Amino acid sequence: MANVAVIGSQWGDEGKGKIVDWLSSRSDVVVRFQGGHNAGHTLVIDGVTYKLSLLPSGIVRGGKISIIGNGVVIDPWALAKEIQYITDLGIMVSPESLKIAENATLILPLHQRLDSLREGLSGDDKIGTTKRGIGPAYEDKVGRRAIRVTDLANEKTLVNKVNKLVNHHNIVLRGMGEKELNPSDVLKELIAITDKILPYMARVSIILSEARKAGKRILFEGAQGVMLDVDHGTYPFVTSSNTISPTALSGVGQNLKALNFVLGITKAYTTRVGEGPFPTEQENETGEELGKKGHEFGTNTGRKRRCGWIDTVMVRHAIEVGGIDGIALTKLDVLDGFETIKICVGYKLNGKVIDYFPIASEDQFNVIPIYEDIKGWSDSTYGARSWNELPAEAIKYVKRLEELIGCSVSLLSTSPERDDTILVKDPFED
Ligand code: IMP
Repeated sequence: MANVAVIGSQWGDEGKGKIVDWLSSRSDVVVRFQGGHNAGHTLVIDGVTYKLSLLPSGIVRGGKISIIGNGVVIDPWALAKEIQYITDLGIMVSPESLKIAENATLILPLHQRLDSLREGLSGDDKIGTTKRGIGPAYEDKVGRRAIRVTDLANEKTLVNKVNKLVNHHNIVLRGMGEKELNPSDVLKELIAITDKILPYMARVSIILSEARKAGKRILFEGAQGVMLDVDHGTYPFVTSSNTISPTALSGVGQNLKALNFVLGITKAYTTRVGEGPFPTEQENETGEELGKKGHEFGTNTGRKRRCGWIDTVMVRHAIEVGGIDGIALTKLDVLDGFETIKICVGYKLNGKVIDYFPIASEDQFNVIPIYEDIKGWSDSTYGARSWNELPAEAIKYVKRLEELIGCSVSLLSTSPERDDTILVKDPFED
């Protein structure tokens, strides 16, 4: 039985929601392995729209186990709010259907405060974070002073850990000339939220091993995209977790044998939110049109996304470092009606042609894309469910992309509707 991981191959917002929903309907367990409530997935099921940030997408479908792994940073207040939100929409959430790793790191209000303060102080160097406290929480994790889910179960441990954490951050806050934290306020807040979180605490790694032994299908649900990976993305304009596929395992406590297929979600053009290099960005009418037709506003923060042509050098990099076996190409319909479509096939850097994504940030800012022009199509691809329904030029575009990125299309999505999908290869049947 194949287990599948879904990751983004660009800067997030590739349209994972629909694909993850399609795959989760065919799996038994859905598990989130990195990121936090900086993510935003929109699912439309039987006419009801669900906007999820932290909960795995499987939660909205009955009979599945949804898991939040140790690699996720959890804001307990955001989680409690999201559970309430979907409960109000008629979805039952119980300790049977939702499991949270004991060793997951908590995001506290102080992390959000630090995230905002730092962004505010960074001027032109700001990252454009979601201000959800993601970076500061991961820093505390690797700094070995984080508060983890399991700590909520032991008040004595919690008191000690809160004191240490607050001492650490007060030094920073003092340096910034900011109001310092009172450890007993932090403790009180945590104790007040404990009852909403602890019932879901579980031994996630063991639950997943047992699910595997029982032949259950597992879907590993990634957030953000490879170009936001803290090591392999456009550092420092990245998120603070590894978004590549091996994190699906380290972020839930599973071994290499647990994963059989990695599906990379790839938008037919490119978008990014926040600051940082974006070689194929179109700060012109084309960019405006892509944004308008593609409704490119953040699910979570409402921010307008930057838009540009597809960059096959970057996607090839994502496929290589992300371990992607096949792609799900999304939003092809947004390109309908463009007379000419451009594909970035290489870069010029300091007068030299290069065919790889450079690592130095200044090089990522300085590369000049080399484009290949492809004839567009005037017919609509919206809602197509088979290759026969696609204009010949659209098929040519897809085939050329496959050639350039060195990876095949497993799924092609032609509208937000679940059934408007062309299935080339079922990732679960690998
Ligand atoms: P952070 O993850 O909030 O620290 O933000 C770091 C960078 O990642 C910023 O450029 C954000 O806009 C971007 N980012 C974080 N989460 C997402 C996402 O789910 N989709 C797209 N971009 C994201």
